[in-house]
Amino acid sequence: MQKILITYYSESGSTEEIAKIILNTITNYDVDLLEVGKVQHLNYDGIFIGTPNIYGKPAPEIIKFLKKNNDRLATKSIHLFFTCMACYLDNEMKNYQLEIFTDSNIAKNINVLERMNSWEKSHAVSTYLSNLNIIAPKLTIASIAFFKGRLRFRSLSFINSLIMRMICLINRNVEQGDFYKPQDVETWTKQIDFFCRIINRNNITK
Ligand SMILES: Cc1cc2nc3c(=O)[nH]c(=O)nc-3n(C[C@H](O)[C@H](O)[C@H](O)COP(=O)(O)O)c2cc1C
Repeated sequence: MQKILITYYSESGSTEEIAKIILNTITNYDVDLLEVGKVQHLNYDGIFIGTPNIYGKPAPEIIKFLKKNNDRLATKSIHLFFTCMACYLDNEMKNYQLEIFTDSNIAKNINVLERMNSWEKSHAVSTYLSNLNIIAPKLTIASIAFFKGRLRFRSLSFINSLIMRMICLINRNVEQGDFYKPQDVETWTKQIDFFCRIINRNNITK
């Protein structure tokens, strides 16, 4: 039976909860769910990687995992999911040959990158993808999803809580709350071709 790994990092819990919804949505496959620090091998046919968006990049723990396994992950079918507070679809992302799913909190019309404000630009899908491409250039991403996750000051480390309080003060688009919708996670999971490999190495480069 083909095997699937779902691995994730989560600080305040939303990425972990989404990983569990994915686990419960996949049927007929042998699936392991492991926090990223507990992954011991990569003998899987398809791999889900879930991470909070930290300043436009995956969490440091996931960056470490991607860098360490860059070559091995290159032969796998990778399904990435980010939780974040904001994500904007921009015209640049049409240049990426990649299925991009955004949940119903953040799905909206495609904006022209040049006309977006600096906050929107820094949270544009193409910005996230180009950051990812620098971190893990060999990654063969088959699909990618952005879910609006969770912000709870009390679930964060002291420093992160302080940073996020300041961001909320400066930017009224960011506020505390639980945002992800399980239904959207199920929708994304059900539409995935788990073992589709993107052969072209440049799938996330323009
Ligand atoms: C230090 C820090 C930096 C963050 N940076 C961003 C960011 O640049 N853009 C964004 O949309 N969300 C950002 N977030 C919000 C997280 O991505 C969001 O809260 C996520 O859902 C948390 O996932 P978790 O519940 O699995 O920990 C940041 C959160 C922290 C703590």
